[in-house]
Amino acid sequence: MLLEKMLQSQGFGSRKECQHVIKQGYVRIDGQVCDNPKQQLQVQNLHFDVFNESYQYREKVYIALNKPEGFECSHQPQYHQSVFALFPDMLIQRNLQCVGRLDQDTTGLLLLTDDGQFLQALTHPRKHVAKVYRVTTADPITAAQLESLASGVELRNEQGIYQATNVQQLAEHQLEMTIHQGLYHQVKRMIAAVGNKVEQLHRQQIGQLALPSDLAESDWYYLSEQDIQLAKMQDLL
Ligand code: URA
Repeated sequence: MLLEKMLQSQGFGSRKECQHVIKQGYVRIDGQVCDNPKQQLQVQNLHFDVFNESYQYREKVYIALNKPEGFECSHQPQYHQSVFALFPDMLIQRNLQCVGRLDQDTTGLLLLTDDGQFLQALTHPRKHVAKVYRVTTADPITAAQLESLASGVELRNEQGIYQATNVQQLAEHQLEMTIHQGLYHQVKRMIAAVGNKVEQLHRQQIGQLALPSDLAESDWYYLSEQDIQLAKMQDLL
């Protein structure tokens, strides 16, 4: 691949802008300045520096963010900041998208990617990828509420019943539950349907991929190949 095309593909600007950066001597490969935009490169395992920052070539990007409260999963947020404000411009230029949405007040595991197929695989309604949430409720949780969540509830304007699995009470006002669809406000609506109210919502897991306990709020990392497979794992419903 041409050096200028490689830089463009990684989100460093238009072809012209990349040519300019290269010709100015700001790009290094193996420590050597490369000022020829037309240089041919093997992109596999390619590491390079731009403005003294190191990068790895990535055909597609797959990211896990520990989403903080008060951020909207939208490029055009209405009332809060955008989660995309937490990422460098080169990732935004690559057309990074959220894999499903979390509400602005929901925290925890959010995946982002520029791979449309991966996004589809995780969000398509027929693909049952489990999502595990820890829910803090306004009122004490009752045994009847736990049972109703597990046996299934009706939701206004939706067909059928919606069941949670692995419903476990963690404290008087806290439970963990797994859902298998991605309806708008699904957890909040399910908790409301059993007569309680969500005070705090935190996503801990997607498929078999859990939020690492040492990933601080607002921090993110690139998923490994194994992480990608874990996230895609469908449940057996
Ligand atoms: N369910 C909700 O109600 N909100 C979220 O952010 C995610 C799931």
